[in-house]
Amino acid sequence: MAEIEIVELDAKADYVRVADLMHRASDYVAMETGKANNPGFVHSTLTDAPPNCGPDDIFLRGLERADGSLAGFAGSIRHFPKKGHWYMGLLILDPLERGQGLGKTAAQHVINEARADNAPCIRVAVLDVNKDARKFWDHMGFEHERTVRADPKGDGHKRHVLRLDLAEE
Ligand SMILES: CC(C)(COP(=O)(O)OP(=O)(O)OC[C@H]1O[C@@H](n2cnc3c(N)ncnc32)[C@H](O)[C@@H]1OP(=O)(O)O)[C@@H](O)C(=O)NCCC(=O)NCCS
Repeated sequence: MAEIEIVELDAKADYVRVADLMHRASDYVAMETGKANNPGFVHSTLTDAPPNCGPDDIFLRGLERADGSLAGFAGSIRHFPKKGHWYMGLLILDPLERGQGLGKTAAQHVINEARADNAPCIRVAVLDVNKDARKFWDHMGFEHERTVRADPKGDGHKRHVLRLDLAEE
């Protein structure tokens, strides 16, 4: 893993950089959306949030390489599903960067941000088909909260909602 810095991203200014990462990480994009090349997925990853989330409640983080390209992305929101709770919408790495501890570093960074914001917990929803990611989140200490059945009108994925409690140790 070469030098990588965790930086704040802007949905408009950094769209191209995130789209480039999603292109490289199209294995995941295809798994979730059925299409490897999916500009709509990039856009919704950067901007989708429930109505009670304002612009200050969306946290876009990039894992930036020295050349400015992104090794990964982590997107989170605050106040979902309850006021003050954090939710990690997507953590995704370039396949070349996986398995070397970078995912853990990025997840821990977001967890620390949520803790600093006094969030009682942080959640993530993992696709049932994404067995590797489930093992990663289990390893990070997240616990299964509930399973959401596939909505035939949605993307057809069953998801598991996992939660990490952030109460003081
Ligand atoms: C999931 C993802 C973010 C994990 O990042 P990563 O850099 O590959 O994982 P790390 O190397 O940081 O692994 C952290 C720890 O989890 C463990 N782990 C990770 N994946 C694992 C797996 N499939 N099975 C068992 N353990 C696993 C590692 O062994 C490591 O353990 P350690 O801390 O004891 O050394 C990354 O693989 C990825 O981008 N996958 C594609 C996108 C995706 O599925 N995102 C999740 C959407 S919910």
